[in-house]
Amino acid sequence: MMLTVRRNILLTPGPATTTDSVKLAQVVPDICPREQEFGRLMESVCTDLTHIVADSGSYSAVVFGGSGTSAVESILSSVVHAGDLLLIVNNGAYGRRMCEMAEAYDLDSIVFHSPPHVALDLTALESTLRSSRRKITHLAVVHHETTTGLLNDIAAIGELCRRESVCLIVDAISSFAAIPIDMRQMGIQYLAASSNKNVQGIPGLSIVVAETELLENKRQHKPRNYYLNLYDQYRFFLETRQSRFTPPVQALYALRQAIDELKREGIEQRYLRYQKSWQTLIDGITRLGLPYIGSDRLHSKLVTSIFEPEAPGYSFQEMHDYLHSRGFTIYPGKLDQFRTFRIANIGDITSDDMQSFLNLLEAYLRQIGFIPGALKGVIASNTRSSEAK
Ligand SMILES: Cc1ncc(COP(=O)(O)O)c(C=O)c1O
Repeated sequence: MMLTVRRNILLTPGPATTTDSVKLAQVVPDICPREQEFGRLMESVCTDLTHIVADSGSYSAVVFGGSGTSAVESILSSVVHAGDLLLIVNNGAYGRRMCEMAEAYDLDSIVFHSPPHVALDLTALESTLRSSRRKITHLAVVHHETTTGLLNDIAAIGELCRRESVCLIVDAISSFAAIPIDMRQMGIQYLAASSNKNVQGIPGLSIVVAETELLENKRQHKPRNYYLNLYDQYRFFLETRQSRFTPPVQALYALRQAIDELKREGIEQRYLRYQKSWQTLIDGITRLGLPYIGSDRLHSKLVTSIFEPEAPGYSFQEMHDYLHSRGFTIYPGKLDQFRTFRIANIGDITSDDMQSFLNLLEAYLRQIGFIPGALKGVIASNTRSSEAK
């Protein structure tokens, strides 16, 4: 008898809804992760993860047990050395998190601030790179700012970095495996991802893809980290086909299955499926009169920050509970300046699932006395605005 698992629809920006086959791939005979069989599994997973964004001739994937944050932390704490200067683009919660990491590790860093819902001012960014009294050696930026759905123009930033000989570090945790990325073309040296978003695996693995030549550089600096040391994790796996420390064994079996399913669907088709769900979402909230943040041109079409309804009976927690008890999980907003909630359309879901969610949302809104009406206006802005600090 084929086991089935209750299907919850996660409209959260990760972990995302997985297929039953991914969930069930975790049920395997116990195995010691130092066995050759497991080493072969990890090797195949790393090669395929690299292929999602680069060619495995010049780039390599390194995996750690951890969440996405540990992939970013591993890069920043391993590759920015004494004497280097890191420029962090902070245009949302995840850019801010990188600033906090730089502070925790005492990295020499400066911050390029920009609002979370408007395009980065690339001219200002370029002039920051050029006018810095000390040479900026590294630039760290988020690809898809998951708080607002804003996509940063990584290809253009990569071009700036190429011209100024700056090493580019990209947090692609919420874009990896949905939005096509070509590390070589975009000029990215280090990229962070995780197993539980668009790859549609389960949580447990943080992923770094980097230029192999850089990973092979022999360190001349005292390491700032231990478990998250990128070079040591890379080298140990290269030499032994084993992870330095205990990996999340079952998450790797699930990831193997998830990657097989990604290959069958194809990244472009997956992104098209996601975009179809997004369009259903946008049509639905527009009809209900709930504006959202961002301009469609810069929008990832993966996660949307929606303004909370103006109604006396509204409470995010009650709306969450109403939907959750009916199989749909939604997410709070993460913006200081606006009252929003977030809906993501990633994972193993379809536009029909999104329509079912919208029907429930409308029922909830009517119940609290919110009158669905014409959209008053999308909070959109293409205006460029930023301040370099
Ligand atoms: C862009 C980005 N960076 C980092 C993270 C942190 O990932 P995790 O919660 O897996 O540590 C997230 C999570 O949503 C993200 O979207």
